[in-house]
Amino acid sequence: MTQLEKKNKVAKAALEYIENNQVVGIGSGSTVNCFINMLDKVKSKIDAVVSSSELTTKLVESKNIRVIELKEAGKIPIYIDGADESNKFKQLIKGGGGALTREKIVAHSSSNFICMIDDSKYVRVLGKFPLPIEVIRMAQSSVAMEMIKLGGRPVLRENFITDNGNIILDVHDLEIDEPIGLESFLNNIPGIVTNGIFAIRGADKLLIANEKNIEVI
Ligand code: 5RP
Repeated sequence: MTQLEKKNKVAKAALEYIENNQVVGIGSGSTVNCFINMLDKVKSKIDAVVSSSELTTKLVESKNIRVIELKEAGKIPIYIDGADESNKFKQLIKGGGGALTREKIVAHSSSNFICMIDDSKYVRVLGKFPLPIEVIRMAQSSVAMEMIKLGGRPVLRENFITDNGNIILDVHDLEIDEPIGLESFLNNIPGIVTNGIFAIRGADKLLIANEKNIEVI
């Protein structure tokens, strides 16, 4: 089974979690795109969507589903998104698609975060996937220096600007043994808008697609 087939399989499983008349938070990325492609099946149940990126907004609107601002929605009952890595505590690395800031905001405002991954992304220790960090452009070198002090190897994501007008540093070679501690530490570095560790608010349910079925933890 290819990774794309697994993404489609887990996206289909996530559809089951949508209940009648719900506002649904939707993340970003290729797994989410598979999920959005299938939304016709449950469209009648969805009151509106709160989106985490310009691309997700465009795709959801192309399905004739209403997209509303977070401030109109208040607390969101369900948030559905992918991830780049997850450990067994449902602590995540996200931001491979660069939408981490809005994703973290929507996840934080949601009661139930359903995360869809395939089994290649289920890891013992986070950090094999380079940690994405959204940074204010003027702080590129000062933040990069801090990442080197931590033992990381920051690489500027070339030709990429986030929906918020910032740059992304992808930090390689970090072994993230204490995700909550590192997430909090990074939150305090001037110039970092958002780091891609989702551990303070991790997922509530993890759907993992493997060759045979969907494991739910
Ligand atoms: C985007 C994300 C994505 O959820 C993450 O990168 C996974 O992407 P994909 O579903 O394409 O593998 O965090 O910012």
